[in-house]
Amino acid sequence: MSCFVIGNWKMNLLQVSAQDLVKGLVDRGAVSDDRVSVVVCPPYTLLACMHDLTAQGIMLGGQNCHHASKGAFTGEISAEMLSDLGCRYVILGHSERRRDYNESDADVGHKAKLAREAGLVPVICLGETLSERQDGATFDVIERQLRGLIDAAGIDVVASSVIAYEPVWAIGTGLAATSQQAQEVHARIREVLVGRGFTSHVPLLYGGSVTADNASELFACPDIDGALVGGASLKAEEFAKIVDHARRQPA
Ligand code: 13P
Repeated sequence: MSCFVIGNWKMNLLQVSAQDLVKGLVDRGAVSDDRVSVVVCPPYTLLACMHDLTAQGIMLGGQNCHHASKGAFTGEISAEMLSDLGCRYVILGHSERRRDYNESDADVGHKAKLAREAGLVPVICLGETLSERQDGATFDVIERQLRGLIDAAGIDVVASSVIAYEPVWAIGTGLAATSQQAQEVHARIREVLVGRGFTSHVPLLYGGSVTADNASELFACPDIDGALVGGASLKAEEFAKIVDHARRQPA
């Protein structure tokens, strides 16, 4: 099974700096092959000027979409619009959106359904906050988020999605989960999915301060199928090294 390295550019870059970054990735061979799927998720404004990336082996994703398919929703973007611009993936339920826009597990599930209908693969984020981890509630939180997601989206939609475990305390802090911490949550997610009757292999990515220095150890874990990368995806050399580590994992 191929492994994923997905870059979440968040609200960064303009046309010229984005083109430079992509050129840097292509020059370093950080493109998809049969071992690794390389995806970048630029802000909406850059999608149109990035759409020839696919020909170069880098797939495109959106960072969010609306939970309705169209209509009077000023300032919003639908899953179909992302698909129309050449996106194959869409990040949903990122903790920054859950926190800043009160997105619930049910909202994320509805978006995932529409994304699948538009032909996109949802990359669904979940993860606990620092205080939830300190309270020993990590597994409870993950299970609650998964349950809400599956109830709203249905097993078929989740089975054809990618799930990213992103502990909130590790995002943008430089303090990644240890490979042991990440592996135990991934194993738990896998257990819950199997318990709910999932038969397909849902790729499970880790996200939160992934760098070229810690990627290899994370990728070596049996239940980690790749990474969702924030800050390090904005630096061509660093992101290309992460892709290299993914490529070097035994199949
Ligand atoms: P950082 O890699 O900057 O911690 O961000 C992770 C993230 O939020 C990816 O979606």
